[in-house]
Amino acid sequence: MRQFTSIPALRQHLSTLDPAQTVALVPTMGALHEGHLALVEQAREENDVVICSIFVNPVQFNNPADLALYPRTLDADQALLEPAGCDVIFAPAADEMYPEPPALMLNFGELETVMEGAMRPGHFNGVGIVVAKLFNIVQPHRAYFGQKDLQQVAVVRRLIRDLSFPIELIRFPTVREPDGLALSSRNRNLTSTERQQAPALYEALTMAHDLLRGAQSVTQAKAAVTALFADRPGFRLEYVEVANADTLQPVTEVLAPGQTAICIAAHLGHVRLIDNLVF
Ligand code: PAJ
Repeated sequence: MRQFTSIPALRQHLSTLDPAQTVALVPTMGALHEGHLALVEQAREENDVVICSIFVNPVQFNNPADLALYPRTLDADQALLEPAGCDVIFAPAADEMYPEPPALMLNFGELETVMEGAMRPGHFNGVGIVVAKLFNIVQPHRAYFGQKDLQQVAVVRRLIRDLSFPIELIRFPTVREPDGLALSSRNRNLTSTERQQAPALYEALTMAHDLLRGAQSVTQAKAAVTALFADRPGFRLEYVEVANADTLQPVTEVLAPGQTAICIAAHLGHVRLIDNLVF
């Protein structure tokens, strides 16, 4: 496994690859867990060369405290990536990616107006900029993103289409703990009590799913989720939404198979958790 921190050095290495080889990119912010590694393993199965980027992207954090708190565990990440089948780590410093703050501003239209777009102004601008930079630097054939961040997948889909990147986007299913909690780098900031409460998000999603499958309305399903969190001390539900799984726009009725998403964001203590279910 090779590791690069400089863009020219990575480009130089990539220029030596056989052009017939397929290259996969798995963008991450490090603090890797089994969810990230599952993306890397999938990329390993489907491509000749697997590149994992590790970069805590300052431009996508709208809260400086959140950026400061973000776990950085590069040594542990390196040790996990090699057995998962990673060939190249790209771990640039902030001034390598941003010698100066980017002047470019990306706006993803209606995707910015709902859920994560509405709650975290500027977040998807930052995600779009860093992903576009990584796409230009690595020029992968395939890029792997987790369904855990469903709206991010939709943002990257738009980025690829709007800027004509010749890249296949792979949406990988959410990896969960046995109790249903979606793996997340933020989980390590939960206290042990909060960790025991945290599966309520998945519980709420499966409950809403069952209600919708049982012909209850979208309004009833959302009300049931709101009631569930009202009963759980420590939680503050930020939103529950039933949406089109591709556009993330709210829907009032269940769509065709695979096209409806139930999305939740909730604060548990100091930690903000998100999760979703597509059905
Ligand atoms: P990060 O939160 O580190 O996540 C990296 C990738 O892992 C994302 O595609 C995310 O959706 C995926 N992922 C996280 N938890 C997962 C889980 N439990 N199951 C499956 N996939 C999971 O998302 C980012 O970083 C950044 O926004 C980034 C795309 C790297 C741009 O800075």
